[in-house]
Amino acid sequence: MPSSLTEFLRNFLLLPPEGSTFSVSADRLHFVVILTTFAGSFGVFLTAAIFIIRYRQRDPDQTTVHVPPSRLLEAAYIVLPLTLFVIWFFIGFRQYVYTETPPPGAMDVYVTAKQWMWKFTYPGGPNSINTLRLPVGRPVRLLLTSRDVIHSLFVPELRLKQDVLPGRYTQTWFTLRMPGRWRILCTEYCGLLHSEMRGELVALDPAEYEAWLANQRQDLNAQRDASASGPEQQAHPAPSLAEQGERIAVAQGCLACHSVDGSRHIGPTWLGLYMSRVPLEAGAFAIADEAYLTESIMEPDKKIVAHFQPLMPSYRGRIGAAEVAAIVEYIKSLRTDEVVPGSGQEPPHAPLTP
Ligand code: CUA
Repeated sequence: MPSSLTEFLRNFLLLPPEGSTFSVSADRLHFVVILTTFAGSFGVFLTAAIFIIRYRQRDPDQTTVHVPPSRLLEAAYIVLPLTLFVIWFFIGFRQYVYTETPPPGAMDVYVTAKQWMWKFTYPGGPNSINTLRLPVGRPVRLLLTSRDVIHSLFVPELRLKQDVLPGRYTQTWFTLRMPGRWRILCTEYCGLLHSEMRGELVALDPAEYEAWLANQRQDLNAQRDASASGPEQQAHPAPSLAEQGERIAVAQGCLACHSVDGSRHIGPTWLGLYMSRVPLEAGAFAIADEAYLTESIMEPDKKIVAHFQPLMPSYRGRIGAAEVAAIVEYIKSLRTDEVVPGSGQEPPHAPLTP
């Protein structure tokens, strides 16, 4: 499809700019479906108009001639639209699988929704409220969770909507195509100020993004230095999300039961846990992804790991979503390619990424 035609159709259908690489393929399918159905309905209306004029009743005694339908014509009526629909389904399904499969090495950003704001947490970087700054040309994975009710993140320019649920993580990913400032909307009714739960996605050139990130880190360091006691305090880099997670895990007593060196303790070790296959007491396996780890912290009774006692208390209400994200990030930093002996885990099912 020539780009002048897609540009015309995009304007004609009042669609916003194509902000992500996925937007382009989503629009292509949209245009093909719209054009085909438009041509189809135009054909139907045209035929109806011609028949109304040509075969109108010319005198009161005229009777309608019976026309026997041809098998071939009937078969064509059925097979042609059906084939089109099946083709569209498969193209759409492929696009769905694409949006559900973040590429390895994508940059992670944690999104916490609550009535009525969006909070963005960058691993190793700053937090921000309602403004999400991202670089163009780099795959980004959003890991989303809610602190209260169901919300849904919608950026029309990305042709992307993702429900945000309390107590679990959902994910989505995209690669930005061009710099711009676009609205982030909540598209699940979530209470009184639902319509005002808006954020902004700022797509930046990679260099601009890096400059902003460096700036934010400097600010974080300055804040830390200001709050640190004693003039001999050295300036050190702001803690990454994983480092914050380690601190929270120590403070919450997680490490009293979970080792980080692979040794067996009251609970399963965290070494090499992320993305490993965990055998469950109830049979079968779970993949230790973000959703599993979050659930295990919030509702530890839901999936008991085989050969471990269900002793872990629930941390629901004791720590917030941002803290859980930090602990999960810490567990992710303990990935290893080696099989951890005695853990019962099988090696990671996804290859490690740098
Ligand atoms: Cu949040 Cu609607």
